[in-house]
Amino acid sequence: MADERDDIRSRVSIVELVGQRVRLTRAGKDWKGLCPFHDDKTPSFTVSERFGTYRCWACGEHGDIFTWVMKTQNVEFGEAIQQLADIAGVKLERKGAPRPEQKAERELARAAMEDALLFFREELARSEAAKAYLTRRDLPLDVVQAWEMGYAPDNGEAITVYLKRKGHSLNLCKELFLVDQDPSGGFFDKFRGRLMFPIRDEQGHLVAFGGRLLGDGQPKYINSSDTPLFRKSRVLYGLHRARDVASKERHLVLCEGYLDVIACHRAKVTTAVASLGTAFTPDHAKLIKRWADDVTLLYDADEAGQKATEKALEILEETGLRVKIAQMPAGDDPDTLLKRDGAGSVLKVVQDSQSPMDFRFRRLEKKLKPADGAFWEEAVQILATAKSDLEFDKHVVRLAGLYPEIPNPVQAQSALRRWVGRVRKGQPGPAPVARSKARHEPIPNLKIHSAEAAIFRGLFEPTTSAKSHEVVKGDQWLTVAGRELAAEILTALPQPPDPDEQDLWVHRIENPEMVQLLTLIAEDRRFQPFGEQQLTDALTELKKRLEQAELQDLKKESGKGNEIVARLKKMRPKYDKSVETDMF
Ligand code: CTP
Ligand code: MN
Repeated sequence: MADERDDIRSRVSIVELVGQRVRLTRAGKDWKGLCPFHDDKTPSFTVSERFGTYRCWACGEHGDIFTWVMKTQNVEFGEAIQQLADIAGVKLERKGAPRPEQKAERELARAAMEDALLFFREELARSEAAKAYLTRRDLPLDVVQAWEMGYAPDNGEAITVYLKRKGHSLNLCKELFLVDQDPSGGFFDKFRGRLMFPIRDEQGHLVAFGGRLLGDGQPKYINSSDTPLFRKSRVLYGLHRARDVASKERHLVLCEGYLDVIACHRAKVTTAVASLGTAFTPDHAKLIKRWADDVTLLYDADEAGQKATEKALEILEETGLRVKIAQMPAGDDPDTLLKRDGAGSVLKVVQDSQSPMDFRFRRLEKKLKPADGAFWEEAVQILATAKSDLEFDKHVVRLAGLYPEIPNPVQAQSALRRWVGRVRKGQPGPAPVARSKARHEPIPNLKIHSAEAAIFRGLFEPTTSAKSHEVVKGDQWLTVAGRELAAEILTALPQPPDPDEQDLWVHRIENPEMVQLLTLIAEDRRFQPFGEQQLTDALTELKKRLEQAELQDLKKESGKGNEIVARLKKMRPKYDKSVETDMF
């Protein structure tokens, strides 16, 4: 495939190709002209023969010969490569262009479909029941006509007879999902008693139908299954009407159903499309990508709609589209919203759409509470998807106030930031603090000497972390808390921390008070900046203090030689008045 493409690329001049549509003049090694993709006043569009590419420096549109054909003719890659292969005189290995008899078959199929549509539309005009339904649904005649809606009567063989009379092969019509066959071989109508929505592909070819029951009942909708003309994962309802505006704005609105698309267009949201009664697929996303860079998801406000939003969001983002999510009032879809509150409200809902992150947090906050550990596991995952610092900060600041384990919001923020950093690196999440039973302790009631604190501080600095860790393993503690903290740290962090990693090991410490103390130390400004020198100074200070403490004890014991010194060493840590003068 790649070989074929390169072959074609080397034989087709992009300057000639683009030059057929854009007046190009030489500019140094390249060519330039007015950009055909936006309303260009100065020539911002350049074409480079060397690289086989074009690019607009104003609107950003760019690509090669293949994207050029795809975009300017709005065809899929398969058609583009075929056209270019013809120009290049390259024979494609793949099945390639349809054989003439295939072409003829396609024409017949299209003709049958168009006749079926004519039939449905005529039937609508004469069906009182269907017209009453349109009135009930608030669908005026101009809308019905614009969307070519029809009606499939409920008498079993209406369209079968019609299509046969028109000379269409019923076997072909069966393949087209217009008729079906009973076991005895007799044909009958596939759609009966339904309001019909013709489905056109983006080129405007009629490829399928969707039919809605006039009343209640099951199934509410029947849609053409895949046929020789139709693959449902490749077609979006409404795209042939949305595409021109969409390709100018590079923006599409994606809804759930036929009537939603129609409602949107009535509300001047003329870039609305819908996937057809099927889940939204990566193929749909690719189709959208050809017309837009931004998508607004406008699904129903119910739980099913919100779940579907989550899925579609993921697929769209994976395809490289920017997504926003419109929030419908509870219980609404665009159709009901239009009917109740008018066109302005539909437009406003689209305009007020929110970022994926806001959407994901709203979903999370409905599902879980900050008191649950699971809330935070999901929250950091969501934070890790932030597209900008601004967005990230907004949520971190907000969430820090909810973090149950660290009451000080500033510390909570930095704990969250570190956790997210780890998630982003794809490292296994830490045991979140919130997982141990939520405790709402104030500042820890632990006192350690500031020189001890400095030793621990060293763990958070890439330049000193290894050495600090070594010192932490030592036995130079002045305070009980210092010694305990060292023991907890060594359990959570048996090896020195990796300098490239985040400090999430902190959260592996079981005792939440210790975690708080350690976070305090990590954040304390008095240790800024911190380096090798500070660590050495701290160690010296610590040793000096220890000696003083021992000396005092020694004096108290009225000096009895080395024996006592040895005993006293075992009694450490020492925590007396001399220590209290410089507590962290
Ligand atoms: N759909 C379908 N088959 C069903 C139900 C739904 O194909 N049995 C598709 C249709 O394309 C429909 C869309 O999913 O338009 C959304 O479904 P739903 O919200 O149930 O229908 P609405 O479009 O809101 O139609 P209505 O307002 O008439 O209920
Ligand atoms: Mn609806």
